[in-house]
Amino acid sequence: MIIARSASELKAALESKQGSLGFVPTMGALHIGHRTLIEAARRDNETVVVSIFVNPTQFLPGEDLSKYPRREEADFKICELSGVDILFYPEVSAMYKEDEVRVIAPDIRGYILEGASRPGHFDGVLTVVMKLLNMVHPTRVYFGKKDAQQLALITQMCENFFMDIEIVPMETVRESDGLALSSRNVYLNESQRQEALKLSSALKEATKMVMQGNIRGNEIKGAMLKLLEPLEVEYVAIVNRQFEALDEVMIGNTIVLVAARVGPTRLIDNVWM
Ligand code: PAF
Repeated sequence: MIIARSASELKAALESKQGSLGFVPTMGALHIGHRTLIEAARRDNETVVVSIFVNPTQFLPGEDLSKYPRREEADFKICELSGVDILFYPEVSAMYKEDEVRVIAPDIRGYILEGASRPGHFDGVLTVVMKLLNMVHPTRVYFGKKDAQQLALITQMCENFFMDIEIVPMETVRESDGLALSSRNVYLNESQRQEALKLSSALKEATKMVMQGNIRGNEIKGAMLKLLEPLEVEYVAIVNRQFEALDEVMIGNTIVLVAARVGPTRLIDNVWM
């Protein structure tokens, strides 16, 4: 595995590679969810590139960037064992200069739900993803469905900027008890971890209601909110794949989402129907 730490090192590493290229952008603290993305990239492509970069521009003032989990040694091992060809591991100075051009998320879709709770977050995500895609030139790029709004916005960015890249959405990976894997789960103590299960239980209830024929948004959201008590819920929402609010579930074009705080840790989860 080649480790590239700058744009020029990455360019040199990519020069000898031929055929399709699968790319998995990450912020490190890799878990089985990331491994699933890497395995899919490995299966579908001749070359696999993973980036690990804790992107400062997607953290808001007050969000503790310095506390984001960093696991350099373990992450390198996971990449190596997963058959990654090139690991891109830049410093902030290799990615950003002063006073740069930025990508701005769309007015509505970028500023609802996650974007309302974290205004400006998606500007940072889209800016860094644009940089990474331009540096790596992948055939396919792999994202988890857990960050559904991020996935929708990156898909829109690639369409709006006519970027010829296949975006491959991958299912959320869960623990056996339903907890969605997230790098933030390391912040949970044992009792918080139990409380965190309320998110997946609420989504399971939503799925059950729809399977039983109840597609009414207000009733589904009401039942979910009851199950989420006493967590501090930021939102429960029912949207279509374009992130437009729905009054009723449309099978095949709906995402039910939840964001809540478990202690100080903010968790998100969703189910696609
Ligand atoms: O989902 C993430 O880990 C990040 O938002 C991403 C896409 C790597 C951009 O920093």
